Amino acid sequence: MASTQQQRYILVERRDDGIAVVRINRTDKLNAMNLDVIAQLSSAMDDLAGDDTVRAVIITGTGEKAFSAGADIEYMSRISPLEAEEYARRGHAAMSKVENLNKPVIAAVNGYALGGGCELALACDIRIASRNAVLAQPEVGLGICPGWGGTQRLARIVGVAKAKELVYTGRRVNAEEALSMGLVNRVVELPQLMDESIAVAREIAKNSAIAVRVSKMLINRGVESDISTGLALEVWGWSLCFTHPDRAERMSRFLQKR
Ligand code: HXC
Repeated sequence: MASTQQQRYILVERRDDGIAVVRINRTDKLNAMNLDVIAQLSSAMDDLAGDDTVRAVIITGTGEKAFSAGADIEYMSRISPLEAEEYARRGHAAMSKVENLNKPVIAAVNGYALGGGCELALACDIRIASRNAVLAQPEVGLGICPGWGGTQRLARIVGVAKAKELVYTGRRVNAEEALSMGLVNRVVELPQLMDESIAVAREIAKNSAIAVRVSKMLINRGVESDISTGLALEVWGWSLCFTHPDRAERMSRFLQKR
């Protein structure tokens, strides 16, 4: 699998307020994700995981037209089944790094989020869409099924019936419809998208990083488990928070204000 090196397809901006903005930067191809984009996204997640100054992450696309138009169709048109398997695996690894990053990730969906683009948004914790956003899993029209988590995460987020409808038809949904089915958390005008996403990230960042981190882990593990396993994990996660000075400081701050 040949790949062109040196292109910076993922731009990471670390802001002073503890928020990192990750931008998919392949505007001429509507931020379609080739192997290099996936590799750079993956390594950006590794860097951010190790950076305690970052409290929340926003992923968006460069330009005003697309979050990401998905996997690279030109590349997929010429690969073997084994290369396809590798492409799916690498995509899965990157999306799982997003999903399991030790801090919340917000998808600022600034236009088309199709196929793999929608799947990347699904791997994020929260999705905020601009009014011009268009989301879909159009893969079946290309003779493939969703391959970066769409058959799994979509159903967990919007329910099995809606996921089946969207995957079998490949139908595009606009931001309002996406909101109505819980596919996105909120919708704002495009010029407000970054401000709104940053505002949500700041709301998160003012809370205890360890408590947010444990909460994310518990929700992610819990939805994959039966309720008694999830609740047992919650007891451990909850009591783990008591090992961190944040808990004592924040509780005494509350009590002193009284
Ligand atoms: C490669 C893509 C691309 C993609 C767009 N481009 N999407 N290249 N892969 N997914 C390229 C076009 O070829 C074109 O390049 C440029 O970006 C601009 O796109 P246009 O089609 O000219 O723009 P427009 O007419 O505005 O249409 C926008 C669009 C359309 C509706 C988003 O581009 C489109 O339908 N794209 C494909 C979306 C899709 O089916 N995604 C799912 C892929 S499957 P040039 O060089 O001609 O200017 C998938 C599987 C995931 O994601 C799992 C993998 C394991």
